[in-house]
Amino acid sequence: MDVVALVPAAGRGERLGYGMPKALVPVLGEPLLLRAVRGLIGSGCVHHAIVAAPPDAVEEVRAAVAPAGGAVHVVPGGSQRTESVRCALAESARVVPDAAVVLVHDAARAFTPASVIREVVCAVRDGADAVVPVLPVADTIKQVDADDRVTVTVDRARLRSVQTPQGFTPEVLHEAYAAVGDAATDDAGLVERLGRTVATVSGHPQALKITTAFDLAIAEAVLAEPFP
Ligand code: C5P
Repeated sequence: MDVVALVPAAGRGERLGYGMPKALVPVLGEPLLLRAVRGLIGSGCVHHAIVAAPPDAVEEVRAAVAPAGGAVHVVPGGSQRTESVRCALAESARVVPDAAVVLVHDAARAFTPASVIREVVCAVRDGADAVVPVLPVADTIKQVDADDRVTVTVDRARLRSVQTPQGFTPEVLHEAYAAVGDAATDDAGLVERLGRTVATVSGHPQALKITTAFDLAIAEAVLAEPFP
């Protein structure tokens, strides 16, 4: 049965400073979003992609992803990431009603290796309700109070930084979005609120989220000389 990837790409990309939606920013000549969608479809285990675009740039986004082929649908997103995912999830229920696995993948993580995408899909197919790719945390993490004074140093041995794609059974993701109250910074967080278990697989440094011009420079360097 099919795997569908929801791709929230409706961010304004203000921190990148290009004066255009981040999804459309060219990276070595190709829009970030096209690279993200090609990475999903090219992994060989994703059959459909549903992109949530900035509402005022739907046609531009459609044109940008056209080279990725016919299995890509574009819908208007919302003002928060959670709303954008909700729009794409509704469209996926219409386009792929019998999907076996739903991935949610940030357009901004356009350089995620195929091996990570495949591992997430396999973990859901093997029975997990929800799966996230993670990396150990290299920095020491401290919590601060409202005046920026350190209140506690967290034990980093048990901390993980979380990437995408995050994988779900369609039932669990629909239940999480039906129950959502506040916006969340990732989709697995909504599943955690249901009291469901979220499994982990190994992430990859190349799945970094492109947020700033510095991240973009790193991505271009990796593309020019791929990382092992
Ligand atoms: O802002 P941030 O980098 O955390 O956004 C993560 C992803 O969510 C990006 O791919 C961005 O385009 C997307 N997003 C969205 N709708 C919003 C805000 C962000 O689809 N309203």
